[in-house]
Amino acid sequence: MLKGEKVFLRAVELEDSRIISAWLNDRETNINLDIIYPLSKRYADSYVLSAEEENNKRIFIIDNHDRKPIGLFIIDKIKWEYRNCEIGIVIYDKNSRGKGLGEDALRTGLDFIFNEMNMNLVYLHVLSDNKAALNLYRKLGFEFEGELRERIYKNGRYHNLIVMSKKREGGDNDENWIDK
Ligand SMILES: CC(C)(COP(=O)(O)OP(=O)(O)OC[C@H]1O[C@@H](n2cnc3c(N)ncnc32)[C@H](O)[C@@H]1OP(=O)(O)O)[C@@H](O)C(=O)NCCC(=O)NCCS
Repeated sequence: MLKGEKVFLRAVELEDSRIISAWLNDRETNINLDIIYPLSKRYADSYVLSAEEENNKRIFIIDNHDRKPIGLFIIDKIKWEYRNCEIGIVIYDKNSRGKGLGEDALRTGLDFIFNEMNMNLVYLHVLSDNKAALNLYRKLGFEFEGELRERIYKNGRYHNLIVMSKKREGGDNDENWIDK
């Protein structure tokens, strides 16, 4: 289990799949995510199991201080050879948003990724109109990499998808990289 200042990141258990199933079907939150269809409980079960079976993926439950599950932190597409991976973070419990818990979970997860998993670079995708998430990522040092045009369709219109990344601090110099 990883301990932040306000949250814990812990391994996902099969018993979590009921709440995960409810979360994955939360259409209000899914406005910000690349989830389209209603998903079955069986899907949630296999999603949880995939966390242990796949070598390129780790799923953490974000628990608050009272050990109540409030969201997910996902490490995906781990490329052990290149030492990079994609992350996703969602605070599903709406009462827990805006209280610094997402930031603490992300800080805790990034510390683990860089200093325990020995990754060199972390990237993510975010909808261009998701101001809260964009602010959070910028605050924690993610840089803009590029914008994928009309890659997501939600609520009757297309949305651009922004790619951001963050390098390990004190890592190798990145001479070809121009921060726009
Ligand atoms: C985006 C999300 C993870 C942020 O977590 P959170 O716990 O609500 O955010 P925090 O309280 O930790 O805020 C940290 C920073 O994020 C930004 N932020 C958070 N909520 C914001 C809001 N409503 N408007 C603007 N910026 C916001 C701010 O920069 C904030 O720092 P500050 O308090 O110093 O201004 C969370 O709101 C969430 O899960 N939203 C729905 C799903 C989602 O969009 N996930 C990301 C997909 S890419």
